[in-house]
Amino acid sequence: MKKKDTILVIGAAGQIGTDLVLALRKKHGTENVIAADINIPSKQITENGLFVQLDVLDKTKVENTVKTHKVTQVYLLAALLSATAEKKPDFAWKLNMVSLFTILNLAKNKLIEKVFWPSSIAVFGPNAPKQNCNQYAVTDPQTVYGISKLAGERWCEYYNKNYNVDVRSLRYPGLISYKSDPGGGTTDYAVHIYHEALKNKHYDCYLSENTALPMMYMEDAINATLQIMDTDSKNIKIRSSYNLSGISFTPKQVFESIKLHIPNFTINYKPDERQKIADSWPASINDSNAREDWGWNEAFDLKKMSSEMLKRLK
Ligand code: SER
Repeated sequence: MKKKDTILVIGAAGQIGTDLVLALRKKHGTENVIAADINIPSKQITENGLFVQLDVLDKTKVENTVKTHKVTQVYLLAALLSATAEKKPDFAWKLNMVSLFTILNLAKNKLIEKVFWPSSIAVFGPNAPKQNCNQYAVTDPQTVYGISKLAGERWCEYYNKNYNVDVRSLRYPGLISYKSDPGGGTTDYAVHIYHEALKNKHYDCYLSENTALPMMYMEDAINATLQIMDTDSKNIKIRSSYNLSGISFTPKQVFESIKLHIPNFTINYKPDERQKIADSWPASINDSNAREDWGWNEAFDLKKMSSEMLKRLK
């Protein structure tokens, strides 16, 4: 029988980390999932399992944590997202790349067996198709974040091909969760809009009303993550990062879907610097490779997600 995995989630206080740690603990047992972050995560994470305060740029501490706890799998979620990275390009590049090399090298040196690292739809740029953007469309990212994700993808594939590192990755779209706030991305509005609808019955949106972007409900994203990490290695034919698609919608469409529940909800559109980033990304993604290779399928459409978000946030 295979021994139990010990899982380390770096970036456990972030938007994906919060949901992922809870899901992994449910699946693998609380004692087998260690949460790590430079910031203190929410109580639901620190009170029901091990938490290690960790700066991912501190290579020695990362390595010691892996060794001390005999970690077999790492989910590396620490990163600066698109909007924040534009304000701190040097630091974003350093954080997003150094952390990845640290983990890939630990895997290359056989200290860990399996790595999950998130990429993003931000690897695409203005010359990729707007609609149904395919896996191998041209990647000409216009943001520091997108450049770091694209470079990271190439390194993941390189470490797999040359050093046999079992690294798996998804190009997440904008993610929407009720458990945690998003952390400085261009797609954050799609979370804030639900909070504001309930609290103030009004939302000032920083993207224009018809800006369609690829999005996904967090439960779907977590399921995709667990699924790609679970599947047999031979099914993972793409070792850079898989396109992953859930829903595509505009601010206006999400507004309308909330209005069905809160009829007096109002919205204003005041595009800011994030509009330029959104305009450089595809509006929808073709993820047929993920569907064919390891059976991905989403469960949430916009209507279902809006009902769920409003119910949970209440
Ligand atoms: N949600 C991310 C962002 O907006 C995209 O990967 O930066």
